[in-house]
Amino acid sequence: MKPPKTTKKSVEILIAEDSPTQAEQLRHLLEQVGYQVTVAATGKQALTVVHTRRPALIVSDVVMPEMDGYALCKAIKTDGKLKEIPIVLLTSLSSAQDVMKGLECGADNFIRKPYDEKYLLARIDHILINQELRKDQKVHMGVEIYLGGQKYFITAERQQMLDLLFSIYEEVGHINKRLEETNKELESFSYSVSHDLRAPLRAIDGFSSSLLQDYAEQLDDTGLDYLQRIRSATQRMGQLIEDLLNLSRVTRAEMRHETLSLSTLADRVVSDIRKAHADRKVDVTIEKEMKVMGDARLLQIVLENLLGNAWKFTSKSPKAAIQVGSTHQNGETVYFVKDNGAGFDMVYAQKLFGAFQRLHTEKEYPGTGIGLATVRRIIHRHGGRIWAEGEVGKGATFYFTL
Ligand SMILES: Nc1ncnc2c1ncn2[C@@H]1O[C@H](COP(=O)(O)OP(=O)(O)OP(=O)(O)O)[C@@H](O)[C@H]1O
Ligand SMILES: [Mg+2]
Repeated sequence: MKPPKTTKKSVEILIAEDSPTQAEQLRHLLEQVGYQVTVAATGKQALTVVHTRRPALIVSDVVMPEMDGYALCKAIKTDGKLKEIPIVLLTSLSSAQDVMKGLECGADNFIRKPYDEKYLLARIDHILINQELRKDQKVHMGVEIYLGGQKYFITAERQQMLDLLFSIYEEVGHINKRLEETNKELESFSYSVSHDLRAPLRAIDGFSSSLLQDYAEQLDDTGLDYLQRIRSATQRMGQLIEDLLNLSRVTRAEMRHETLSLSTLADRVVSDIRKAHADRKVDVTIEKEMKVMGDARLLQIVLENLLGNAWKFTSKSPKAAIQVGSTHQNGETVYFVKDNGAGFDMVYAQKLFGAFQRLHTEKEYPGTGIGLATVRRIIHRHGGRIWAEGEVGKGATFYFTL
C-alpha cells in the first residue's frame, strides 16, 4: 500500500454502507491512502452528513434500508447545491436495468462488488481529477427510454454518461482480464498435472506388463484377468491424459492467420478417415471453394473432430451421409458439418462441448469426450461461435462461424 499522500488530507469521502464490516474495510482502505473518511449507515444518514459537511465524493452501496443508493443519489443530484458531488455506486451491475437506474439517478460511476481495492482507488482518483475538467461542460439532455417494460427518464449530463459508459467499459475490461488470467492459470495447472500423471502411469503399465510376461505361470486365470484389466484401465487413462494435454496445447499454441480453403482441408481430412476405415461406405459431399481466414493447423483439428464424429455416429446408419457446407445467416457465413447418424437429444445440445461430456456409451460409440471441447476452444480463439442441432436417430448438424 502507498504511504499516505499529504495532498489528500483535506479530501473528505463519505461512505454510505449499511454493513459495518464492509464500511470499516472501505474506511481502512481510503484512510490508508490519506483520505478523510466519514461513514453513514443509511442513505438518510448520508444525506444529513452531506448537508452539514459537504464531502468531496460519496461512495455508496446500493442496497440499504430506508433510502437505497439510487434514492440517495437522486436526492443529491437533484439538489442544485449538492449535485456537483460525485457519487460512486457499489453495485453488482448485473442487468441493463441497473445501468438505467444508475443513469436515471445521475450516478457518476459504478463499481462492481466485490471490488478490487487498487481499482477502486484508481477510479476515485480519476473522478476527482475529472471533476475539475467537467465543471464548464454542462449540457443537459432529457431522454425517455423504455427497457423491460419500464420507462426511465434520463437527464444525465453528457459527461456523466460518458463517465458511466467508460466505467462500465473499464469494468468489463477488468473482468475479462481477470478471467483470462484465471484461465491461463488453469491451463498451465492442467497441463502440468496431466504431464506429471504420465510418469507414475507409465510405471504401473510397465510393471504390470512385466508381471504378465515373467510371472504368468504363477498366476491363475483370475489373477491374469485382473492384471489384464489393470493394463487396459491404465491404457485408457493414458489416452485421457494424452487428450487433456492436446486440449491444453490447442489453447496455448500460437495462432497463424492465413486465407485458406476449408473445402480442401475437409477433402484431405475425409480421405485420411477413409484410409483408416476402408470397410465403411459413407457418402460425403463437400461444398467447393469455401475460403476462410484462420489457422490451418487448428482448423484441421476442428474438421478432424467434426468429421470424425460424423463418421463415427453414422456407423449404424444404413446409408451413411455427411455434408460439409455453408449458409448465410444474418449477414454472416455459417459453416456446417451435417450427418444422418445417431443424433442426440437437443436438451443436451450445450453439454456436448464440455470436456468429457458424452451422450453415447463407450461401448456403442468409443471416445473420451474431449473432441468437441477442443473444437469449441479453437473456434473461440478464432472469434467465432459453435452450436449444434440434432434429433435422436435422425442425425446431427454442427454449425460454426469464424
Ligand atoms: N455427429 C454427432 N452425432 C451425434 N452425437 C454426437 C455427434 N458429435 C458429437 N456427439 C455427441 O457429443 C459427445 C461429445 O463429442 P466429442 O467429440 O467431444 O467426444 P467423443 O467423440 O465421444 O470422444 P473423442 O472425440 O474425445 O474421441 C459424443 O460422445 C456424442 O454423444
Ligand atoms: Mg469426437
